[in-house]
Amino acid sequence: MADLHISEPAERTVEAVLEEIARKAGELALTDFQSLASLPVEKKGHLDLVTKADRQVEEFLIASLRHAFPDDGVYGEEGGEIVGASGRTWVIDPIDGTFNFVRGGQNWAISIGLYEHRRPVFGVIYAPVRDLMLIGGTAVETRLNGKPLPPLPPLDLSQASTGIGLHPSVATEDRLEVVRYISDELRISFRCCGSSTLSLIEVAMGETDGYVALGDSTWDVMAGLPILANLGVSHTIDWDRTELQAKLRFACGSEEFLQKVRPLLQKVSAVV
Ligand code: IPD
Ligand code: CA
Ligand code: CA
Repeated sequence: MADLHISEPAERTVEAVLEEIARKAGELALTDFQSLASLPVEKKGHLDLVTKADRQVEEFLIASLRHAFPDDGVYGEEGGEIVGASGRTWVIDPIDGTFNFVRGGQNWAISIGLYEHRRPVFGVIYAPVRDLMLIGGTAVETRLNGKPLPPLPPLDLSQASTGIGLHPSVATEDRLEVVRYISDELRISFRCCGSSTLSLIEVAMGETDGYVALGDSTWDVMAGLPILANLGVSHTIDWDRTELQAKLRFACGSEEFLQKVRPLLQKVSAVV
């Protein structure tokens, strides 16, 4: 059993505290990942799964964040909601990529983002099986496994690719339009790894040029977007008009990339 004790936050940076919390949460999830055959799986909706691991990791994250930052609130995918006194809220996805997790896949991660003044400002993403720890924010340099990452390269259409994320609840017509637009209008490649946070890590690592998502939640992107912003990644979310409960239809990438995908988003986000 993993040692889940979190050291006292005194005299440690927020980054160090958060890395430790994310790593321990990952170890907790890994214990269930290593005995998947006996892990009960429930359905939240069509192809939308939840396990004991999701709930236990969320409980662990809430307890650890409350211990380290008693004045801050927490908002989690599995129902956790604590209103804080500081105006800061930790927005958490205990396991992003639960479908992959349940099938024994590698692409799942713990995601912890900080929301302040209606904006994502800092985050940590830890993908235990891939051994990837990504951290960064408005006041924190973006680092992958401790190493600073270079800014986004210029868009090269001859080898361009975007990640896509399509929540199971999204209508087939809209899914098809995303694929059609990327294939016929942009004429670029696409990748779909089944985890929003891993799709954002792919952008950070230069494997893709952006990410287009229909049906993601705020906890899917709260950590990743401030981390990516340091690398020159913009996005189309209007945080002033977006509540934490919102379902998102958005893209992120360089301004050049966003200019190309905006017509798609206008089309699939239109209220009919
Ligand atoms: C889901 C994954 C998926 C994305 C969905 C998310 P979950 O998160 O990130 O890639 O397309 O919109 O809900 O349910 O595995 O935490
Ligand atoms: Ca998620
Ligand atoms: Ca989740």
